[in-house]
Amino acid sequence: MTTEDVVGIELAPADSLPLPAFDPGAHVEFFIDRAGQPPLVRQYSLCNGPGETDAFVFGIKREPQSRGGSHWIHSLSEGDQVSLGAVRNLFPINRDAGSHLLLAGGIGITPVLAMAQKLTSVGADYQLHYFVRAVDHVAFRDRLKESEAAGRLHVHAGLDAARVRAVLGEALARPRQDAHAYCCGPGVFMDTVAEVAAAEWPSERVHFERFQAPAAQSAQASDAAFDVVLQKSGRRCHVEAGQSIVQALAAVGCDVMTSCEQGVCGTCLTDVLEGTPDHRDAYLSKAEREGGRLILPCVSRSNSATLVLDI
Ligand code: FES
Repeated sequence: MTTEDVVGIELAPADSLPLPAFDPGAHVEFFIDRAGQPPLVRQYSLCNGPGETDAFVFGIKREPQSRGGSHWIHSLSEGDQVSLGAVRNLFPINRDAGSHLLLAGGIGITPVLAMAQKLTSVGADYQLHYFVRAVDHVAFRDRLKESEAAGRLHVHAGLDAARVRAVLGEALARPRQDAHAYCCGPGVFMDTVAEVAAAEWPSERVHFERFQAPAAQSAQASDAAFDVVLQKSGRRCHVEAGQSIVQALAAVGCDVMTSCEQGVCGTCLTDVLEGTPDHRDAYLSKAEREGGRLILPCVSRSNSATLVLDI
């Protein structure tokens, strides 16, 4: 264990083949198949430092509210086999940036830690602000030593929401023209970063890694119902309030491939041919949202009475 509720695990290929290449910010899908229970897919960030190519390194928090994924991982023992999906990176370090501001809340340290180790190794200019409930919740202390020794690590322990906002205000003030910021953590933490950064940072220079869409964006019973037309078959499907498009399509025998079902991974990305999507994901860029031609149907809905999808 790296803290009382975060376990550090290393997974090496069972066939001894080399790992695929990956960069800081990358994550991997875990396919979790437990006897008698529905399969789960979960994404976890890689914490590897540069040159660590024998095994994937993860830090996984036991989530009290989880649907079982993190509990299953915490029950693993040395020698157990785990089925993993492809490595993806939706949160890369910007290669043109002249300085980097890393902001981590709790378990959000995992992708940021990979970044800090890389930036240290290449002598890049960066600062890492790590917000934790208490000092003994600092994970991967050994991997943070070099950042700490260089005066680049700033641990903020036990702050209330107002103090977190104030510290973020100081950290994000007066950014260099070539600075990029990277943030991972609980939704409320990332929402605060986004609000504070909006005063001085262009949105394209602030990067977020979300493994959960903001709670307020999931389907609500108060949402309006609408229809979806499947262009390829011509079928029409009614999406009730509180029901996702994916669920409604499954009910009429049309299965859309999904993974996270939270609007963060992009697996269910679908073309929109007509209608106005109500985007509730954390995956599409601002330009893609405004274009209105793409939708993540696991969470997003429709602002028009009918949405025609290229399915
Ligand atoms: S399944 Fe991950 S975004 Fe829809």
